[in-house]
Formats: sequence, C-alpha cells, structure tokens
Amino acid sequence: MLKLNVVILAAGAGKRMQSSIPKVMHTLGGIPLLMHVINTARLLKPDRICVVIGHGGDLIRQSIVGADLVWAKQEHQLGTGHAVMQAQSYLDKEGATLILYGDVPLVSLDTLQRLITSTQEKHCALLSAFVENPSGYGRIVRNSETKAITMIVEQKDATLDQQNICEINTGIMLVPNAYLHQWLPRIGNSNAQCEYYLTDIIAMAVKEGIPVDSKQPDNYWEIIGVNNKRQLAELERIFQLERANKLMEQGVYLVDPARIDIRGELICGLEVEIDVNCVFEGIVNLHNNVRIGPNCILKNVVVDEGAIIAPYSLIEDAKIGAKCRIGPYARIRPGTRLLEEVHIGNFVEVKNSQIARRSKANHLSYIGDSIIGENVNIGAGTITCNYDGVNKHQTIIEDDVFVGSDTQLVAPIRISKGSTIGAGSTITKDTPEGALTLSRARQISYFEWKRPTKTKS
Ligand code: UD1
Ligand code: CA
Repeated sequence: MLKLNVVILAAGAGKRMQSSIPKVMHTLGGIPLLMHVINTARLLKPDRICVVIGHGGDLIRQSIVGADLVWAKQEHQLGTGHAVMQAQSYLDKEGATLILYGDVPLVSLDTLQRLITSTQEKHCALLSAFVENPSGYGRIVRNSETKAITMIVEQKDATLDQQNICEINTGIMLVPNAYLHQWLPRIGNSNAQCEYYLTDIIAMAVKEGIPVDSKQPDNYWEIIGVNNKRQLAELERIFQLERANKLMEQGVYLVDPARIDIRGELICGLEVEIDVNCVFEGIVNLHNNVRIGPNCILKNVVVDEGAIIAPYSLIEDAKIGAKCRIGPYARIRPGTRLLEEVHIGNFVEVKNSQIARRSKANHLSYIGDSIIGENVNIGAGTITCNYDGVNKHQTIIEDDVFVGSDTQLVAPIRISKGSTIGAGSTITKDTPEGALTLSRARQISYFEWKRPTKTKS
C-alpha cells in the first residue's frame, strides 16, 4: 500500500461568519465542521492527518482531541498553497497527499475512496463538479480537443470565456508527494489576489507531462462549503434531510422528514415513530415500537421498547424503561432511571432518581435524588425537598406507597413499604410500614363568622 497523507485546510478567518468562533468550529448536526472532515479522513486510514490552523487555532486544538492528528500553524493566511506549505514538513517522501477543506464538511468516504483508488500512482487527481452557477469558484480549464485538464483559474484571474466554464474546482485534490515537495516551493503569488494558490500546481503538472485526472462527487452537497451563517443553515437542512431519509429507509416513521434535528447519533429499532419538531442530541437510542410525540428534546437517552414520550417533553442523560409513558410536558433530568411501565405526567420534574415498575407521578411534582419502589403513586403537587440550602439529601419511597397530593417529603427521609401519606402533609420523619401518616392542622369551622360587607365611601 502506498502511503496516504491527508492535509485539512482550516486556517481561514471565516470573516463572513461574523463570529468570534473560528469558522470550522461552527457545528453541523451538533458536530464542528472540522470534526466532520477529520472523521471522514480517519475512515480512509491514512498514515497521517495534518490540520493547518491559524485563526482561532488554539481554541481548535483545545476542542478537538486526537493523538493521531498533527497540527501545522499558518500565521498569516496567504492562500491555499501557502497553507499546504506549512504542512510540508509533515508529509512523507513517497505516497500521495489528499487535500481537504475544513469548511467543506460533507464530502463522503465513498467519493474520496473513489478518487484515491481510481488514480494511478504518478497521476494527480481533482474532485471537480459541474454547477449551474460557478461564480466564486476556481474553473477547470480543459484542452478544447483532448479535453485534458490544463489548469485551474480562479474567478478573479479568469477571462470572460473562462468565467463561463461550469466545471469548478472543489478544492479537494490528490497529489503524489514526490511532486508536491517539488512544486510547493515554486508557487508564487503574482495573481489578482496576491495569494499563493495551491491550484497553480495543476499547470505545473501539465507542463511536466503529469496527467491530471478528475472525478465528481456522488452527491451535489458533498462539495458545499460554508462561508456564512446562511450557507451553514442551508447545509444543516440538507444534512438533516439526508439523515431523515436514512432513518426512513430503515423503517422509522417520521411524520415530516423536514422537521427533525439530529445533533449526534440517533439509533432506532423497528416501528419507531417520531412526530414533528423533535431534537435529538448526543447518543439517543430508541428501541422497538417507541413513539415520540411532537416537540420533544432528547439528549443522551435510552428509551426501551414500547415507551411513549408525549409532546413537549425534555429528557436528558436518562434511561426510560419499556412501556413507560412520559409527558406531555415532562422534564427528566440527568441521572434518572425509570424501570418498566412508569408514568411521568405533565409538569413533573425528575432528577437523579430511580423509579421502579408501575409507579406513577402524573401531575405537577418534583422528584429529586430519590429511590422509588414499585407500584408507588405520587399525588399531584408532591415535592421531595432534597436541598437544605447547602447539601442534597435522599428520599427513599418503598414499594406500594401512596403519597397524597400536595405533600412535601423533607429529605433525608424514608417512606416505608405500604405507607399512605395524607394529602397536604409535610413529612419530616421516616414513616412506619403500612400506616396512614399525615401532618395537617385540624380543620375548624366557625359558625358565628360573617363575611365582611362592603363599606360605603
Ligand atoms: C479555493 C480554490 C478554488 C476553489 C474553492 C472551492 C485556491 C487558490 N482556490 O478558493 O479553486 O474553487 O477553494 O471552495 O485554492 N485556507 C487556509 N489558509 C489560507 C487560505 C485558505 O487554511 O491562507 C483554507 C480555508 O480555511 C478554507 C480553504 O482553505 O478551508 C479554502 O479557502 P478559501 O479562501 O475559501 O478558498 P477560495 O479562495 O475560495
Ligand atoms: Ca471558499
């Protein structure tokens, strides 16, 4: 196998993003643009990946981990050729280098593999594309008879004729290292932008009789670059639609593929239904027959078979058991584990708690730092008072407990098996098994009492 090096250009300022964050750190599907490119590059199993950074380079290095990456610093952004020069010392003598752009996130493994495997050892190869509006791109100039590539001309240097060429340079190219080492130092900057153009090496190849091959991507969106927030948003929708299409091919029922956002990984079993406007972040695993209602947000969640998440629920770092019913309007916070057939209803917040089978909290409750047994009923408005202003304390509710509405359970506390708590109680001591416990002022009626009457002014 020939050596393969990958250079990812990511030093540009990205001024048009109008942002203090470096362009390549903006996210697509929840993942930085640059990370998409690095992930795809890794799948090629190259001998080395070198990322050229400049603007915001320190932030990029801090955010992206990878012992397999080498970083080259480009102090001043003097052009794509200059950028690759900064990586030159990391490139092998033999083999070839694949140039990728940190702001062209969706180029696919298939396309790159095709470019690499179809290119002969001593040839150069470009990824080109035919577009309706080539404005802004470098144009691929071909010999009118042989149709062989002769050079790439940048828009600003192009003649009017050349500007009409609709075959554009995507920027992605494969160059044998032996030539790259010779040609890089020869790139000059006498052009309209006074930049060192990497694209100049194509004319050098032609001059030396080195064939320049070209390939096109499988999908038009693979070569779309991001220069401003509008393009970022457009590419986000394309990306999300592609993911939605893949899910539907696997049999997931999406009510509207245009209204789903996956910012991470969404793994679905069979017969999963997802209604509109749901957001999935981190790793979300929906097992068979799970139904997600509209407007739900799930982050790092496992939902077991047959569970139903009703509209407007927010679930984070939690595990939802089989056949649970959650929401509408439920908030499940990190550290929550619900076993089978638990019901969590509207305006119920659960944090760092475990709730065993068939237990229910159907209305307006806060359950924090609790361990709740099986067949427990938590009445409306029940609050576990887990925080004393300094420390958090645990509430334990054993099996078959019934907690009446509007109860405060002041932690640390244990509500023993089979207890019944009368509505409106403030429970501060552990309760005995099987008894009715309540704390409530006695009810009094005053028969002599009269309603005040309106006084004349
Ligand atoms: C470049 C190509 C052009 C192609 C277009 C595709 C050249 C001279 N032109 O144009 O033919 O059609 O990409 O989008 O190569 N970068 C650096 N350092 C620099 C300059 C750029 O790291 O000094 C990086 C940018 O961060 C970006 C990539 O290189 O990821 C492309 O830079 P950009 O300025 O967008 O290239 P163009 O001049 O538009
Ligand atoms: Ca560009």
